[in-house]
Amino acid sequence: FGLEGGERLDALRASLTEMLAFGANPLSLLPPLQRETAKYGPVARFLRIRERTDEQIYGLIAERRALADGDDVLSMLLGASHEDGSPMSDTEIRDELMTLLVAGHETTATELAWCFERLVRNPDVLRKLVAEVDAGRDEYVTATIRETLRRRPVLINAAPRKVMAEIEVGGWTYAPGCHLVPNAYLVQHDPEIYPEPYAFRPERFLDADPGTYTWIPFGGGRRRCIGASFAMLEMGIVLSALLSRTELRSGGGHLELNRRRMITVSPSKGGRVELRSRTASESPARAPASV
Ligand code: HEM
Repeated sequence: FGLEGGERLDALRASLTEMLAFGANPLSLLPPLQRETAKYGPVARFLRIRERTDEQIYGLIAERRALADGDDVLSMLLGASHEDGSPMSDTEIRDELMTLLVAGHETTATELAWCFERLVRNPDVLRKLVAEVDAGRDEYVTATIRETLRRRPVLINAAPRKVMAEIEVGGWTYAPGCHLVPNAYLVQHDPEIYPEPYAFRPERFLDADPGTYTWIPFGGGRRRCIGASFAMLEMGIVLSALLSRTELRSGGGHLELNRRRMITVSPSKGGRVELRSRTASESPARAPASV
């Protein structure tokens, strides 16, 4: 949102966190029930917090419009225009910011949490990954992220597709009007496609790119995730930076169970790991940072 650290950022962060917490309530998935209960309970509370958050965001947009400078996302959105040259309205900018936050930040951060959760429980993979990062090679980093997205897709289902014309899938015929929901978890754990599907093995993706129809953590077709490449890039940068500077250790305990958090399926304890700074001799490729 282009805010420097400080009171206003803290206030906006608190509002957004409170607002997004509604995503953990099953009511968030049931719009008809939300309409019924809009005047009381969690829905009323959500609407109140959303109003407060909107005030903060619209205030920020107005200030930035007046300043007309900056190189953050908000400034870029303010500088963007429609095909006919007209600028984006405040509501459109607000919606874009929320999309970036909910569709972009939450998913990517949670997938990274799963990546750490998987790595500390698969020390051979972690060791190899650290060696590859130290050698400045990216292939194994990408393969590890792809394997995390296979093994622990944060969005289990792609968005439902409405059948427009009769179609046969896997021997079943679906009539127009049906809704089909592609399930990434099931496809990505089919032993005919991925032998030993429950093993965490980035090597699966070293020699071949993932299949369009067999690796679908970002959905597929025309509505495939628009931020997929950006998310892969972000995760690669964070993972490499972190491993080159710190040593990862298990935060203890058994593997973390799935827990629904906002729109994503996340590790029940947040992907808890211990980090220790690496010394210069342990980290040959990059200078150690203070963490
Ligand atoms: C690990 C990170 C991410 C995962 C796993 C993920 C996953 C998905 C999935 C499964 C869909 C539905 C696709 C379908 O139904 O076929 C989707 C849609 C979408 N994603 Fe992502 N996403 C991620 C990151 C991002 C980022 C970084 C952005 C934006 C910067 C983003 C923006 C969107 C948008 C706008 C849509 C809706 C696309 C449409 O309906 O046309 N996502 N994402």
